[in-house]
Amino acid sequence: MKHTLCIIKPDATRRALTGEILALIESQGLKIKALKWLHLSRKEAQDFYIVHKERPFYSELVEMMISHPVTIAVLEAPGAVEKYRNLMGATNPAQATAGTIRAKYAISMGENSVHGSDSLENAQKEISYFFSQREIF
Ligand code: CMP
Repeated sequence: MKHTLCIIKPDATRRALTGEILALIESQGLKIKALKWLHLSRKEAQDFYIVHKERPFYSELVEMMISHPVTIAVLEAPGAVEKYRNLMGATNPAQATAGTIRAKYAISMGENSVHGSDSLENAQKEISYFFSQREIF
């Protein structure tokens, strides 16, 4: 069993889509092993997305991530990273496959409703950024 990190982003929180997105995730066999509702600080959002620091959209991304609370989950499944990325769909919702979370709910590249780790290595880093071992069941 492998783990990945999911963030339900502020644009989804704002539109009261948290429950629907969690239900979709669970219906696809991704098990929730940890869950938290947080309003990120600017520093937390900046540090979480530090790999994108030089990108032109970095400050827009940080401001968007602190605009409303987020729901953060550790998901478990065989091949969790790939399974959840397939369920999320492409970063750009215009290119997301029908039935994926982003095709259903995302507004734009920036307000794309969900985040998912892009590799097992990053999943481990991202999970430990938000959760202690004590919080994962
Ligand atoms: P995420 O999977 O959270 O990882 C990085 C995020 O940067 C990405 O989803 C998008 O929300 C955001 N992003 C990527 N490209 C752009 C862009 N061109 N404009 C605004 N935000 C972007």
